[in-house]
Amino acid sequence: MVRQVLNFGLKGGAVALDNKVVNRSTLLGDAVITIKARILAVDDNIQNVELLEGLLSSRGYEVIKAYNGLEALQKLEENDIDVVLLDVLMPKMDGYETCRRIKSRSESRLLPVIMLTALDSIEDKIKGIEAGADDFITKPFQKPELLARVKSFERLKGLLDELENAQNVLYSLASALDYNDPYTHGHSKRVSEFSVRLATHIGMDTAGVEAIRNAGVLHDIGKIATDKGILHKPGALNAIEYKHVKDHPVVGEQICKPLKFARPLLPIIRHHHEKYDGTGYPDGLVGEDIPLGARIMAIVDVYDALTSVRPYRSDIPPEVALEVMKAEAIKGYWDKDLLNAFCEVLRKDGYTI
Ligand SMILES: [Fe+2]
Repeated sequence: MVRQVLNFGLKGGAVALDNKVVNRSTLLGDAVITIKARILAVDDNIQNVELLEGLLSSRGYEVIKAYNGLEALQKLEENDIDVVLLDVLMPKMDGYETCRRIKSRSESRLLPVIMLTALDSIEDKIKGIEAGADDFITKPFQKPELLARVKSFERLKGLLDELENAQNVLYSLASALDYNDPYTHGHSKRVSEFSVRLATHIGMDTAGVEAIRNAGVLHDIGKIATDKGILHKPGALNAIEYKHVKDHPVVGEQICKPLKFARPLLPIIRHHHEKYDGTGYPDGLVGEDIPLGARIMAIVDVYDALTSVRPYRSDIPPEVALEVMKAEAIKGYWDKDLLNAFCEVLRKDGYTI
């Protein structure tokens, strides 16, 4: 019934944490502090809410109360909730619509919602499942059953939070890498945004576009292991230095590999420096053997590099960069169809390419 929050060297004064003010001595005294799991109880019947509050708070939970769907959504905005107990029949907004809205928001789509209902027909359950409910408890509820379900979903929420934290750490590392390099400042974000536009323009499906978006942010994460003196060298690299830089796609793949969410991104990260004629790295793949996402990223990555300042040259205007890339496509470096599609995307921004 508690959430654990790691404390890395917090100092001084009381600290706001998860909307609660935690006393400094608690934080300084322990490397790990504990916070009660927070349950949102939603029911238009005040007595039912009080019953839930009494039961759950006696077991160590913190209970946030709401008396209709709209109020529940408001409380979700204001509090970090672990499990929602949601009545179905309520004024203003019923439980189905409330559940649908909770599950349609990216920040709460994984939040467990248990519907409390006196309705137990199959049709009502199907309606709840379609709205995204994770479980049902029939009213009047049995206390042991309700507590067991809440505990089980609280544990699930804790695991999901850990996964999300791992993803956020990786994203923070990528943006720190970008931020600390004056020559690639904002590069990953731009590559992500332009790649999404190109992928959408050619009609890629939603899952593919999402993989492109994330891979764009993380494609150069392997450079964390690259010698910064070599990365910022204001001249041509020697063979040993170039070989070292060329390790970054494989290193990036290795960094992301343990994370399940990153699986669809791995081929894009590994192959974003392949060239259409097989002269790229790390595997020298040829033509359509190079994953589509990686071919998209290769084009956008080179375009952004050309139009940005580098230690050894100033930035190149977009029109000139595209001419350079068209010449390279004739040589065989890039997927010509994709490069043409990318020109169409840039024309929408007013470039005469
Ligand atoms: Fe790269």
